Amino acid sequence: MSSQINQQYRVTAGGSLSGSIRVPGDKSISHRSIMLGALAEGTTEVTGFLEGEDALATLAAFRAMGVDIEGPDKGKVTIHGVGMHGLKAPEHDLYVGNSGTSIRLLSGLLAGQSFDVTMTGDQSLSGRPMRRVTDPLALMGANIESHDGKPPLTIHGVTDLKAIDYPLPMASAQVKSCLLLAGMYAQGKTSVTEPAPTRDHTERMLTGMGYPVEVNGNQISIVGGGTLKATQIDVPADISSATFFMVGASIAPGSDITLLHVGINPTRIGVINILRLMGADISLANERITGGEPVADIRVRYAPLKGINIPEEQVPLAIDEFPALFIAAACAEGETLLTGAEELRVKESDRIQVMADGLQALGVDAKPTADGIRITGGKIGAGEVHSHSDHRIAMSFAMAALRAEGTIVIHDTANVATSFPGFVELAASCGLHIELHHD
Ligand code: S3P
Repeated sequence: MSSQINQQYRVTAGGSLSGSIRVPGDKSISHRSIMLGALAEGTTEVTGFLEGEDALATLAAFRAMGVDIEGPDKGKVTIHGVGMHGLKAPEHDLYVGNSGTSIRLLSGLLAGQSFDVTMTGDQSLSGRPMRRVTDPLALMGANIESHDGKPPLTIHGVTDLKAIDYPLPMASAQVKSCLLLAGMYAQGKTSVTEPAPTRDHTERMLTGMGYPVEVNGNQISIVGGGTLKATQIDVPADISSATFFMVGASIAPGSDITLLHVGINPTRIGVINILRLMGADISLANERITGGEPVADIRVRYAPLKGINIPEEQVPLAIDEFPALFIAAACAEGETLLTGAEELRVKESDRIQVMADGLQALGVDAKPTADGIRITGGKIGAGEVHSHSDHRIAMSFAMAALRAEGTIVIHDTANVATSFPGFVELAASCGLHIELHHD
């Protein structure tokens, strides 16, 4: 596994970002394309699929459950759907690596099958909370064993799941999606109520494949017993991966970069909204809809940034983008304050603490709080930072070098392959002075 090979980035200070690039496919949509394509009747063709370790873990899981999947080949995947009740018991445990989306969505999807499955993950995933899915699934009648609320999870399939009406305790698209997927196998109407909007790719894809989903304000409902029809899915470029370049171009004088065919679903564009509030120069062109998802080309030019109080309603809409946004805050004039973001503490790493440690190691005034951080913009020094195997932390500090006073060395970067294969080459081609080294 690449995460066990110790890699580091050495990024020489300075430079700017320019050119027109397409970052890899959206991770959330890639996972869902495999899950729903596998359960559909007929053959689903996916293009733009993210060939990163997380989405590949989902793909391997469905192959292990008897689904014939061709590819991926340059982003193309062909899934021969087996229908709602066509999955088979895997011969071994399903290893899903670093992927929270795989384990949480699959928990719901597998709870109502007629066989048992155990899912395991890497060290980071094995420390992440799963009660947020196992508790509501238990209310539906699921039978799931965990290790004190953490993976591995053993799901004993039950064929008489009951629908529930569940207020989500936190804004989480993974929990919402888990319950909607379980709801397809439950008797009656399952409803989830969100405390704030979260990414709605599951709802959009279900609808696109002919499975009705009812949305009433912040309540989303699904009735069990339906079917899915195969379709064509064009996965847009991942705005979460585009974010590193949006931040890099915003902080590096002379930058002018265009990010092509990026998903701009309204539940994902918190990063654009927040950067614009900070004074960033971002323009969208060629806005269009593809496969039920809005996309655009995003042009970002350097602009001096100012610190802001980040509006709390933007937090779920930018949840994966905060490590990069903290780098923007470190380069802004004045103070940036983030609140209402305690979820960041249970991501691939504790992103509040790990980012604060790294920023402090580079001489930035960053003070973590229980649910956020306070960052005062200023100089970024040279130094060494630890990503704690978190892909987004590694890529964020790589971009910080554009404004640093000397080389930044980032340890433990192999997990960038979970979401952004080819990051080093693509970033170098746009002007980042980045080199990959093996320890
Ligand atoms: C995801 C939802 C978010 C996000 C994760 C992907 C998804 O997690 O952080 O990277 O694909 O549904 P939460 O649901 O835990 O917020």
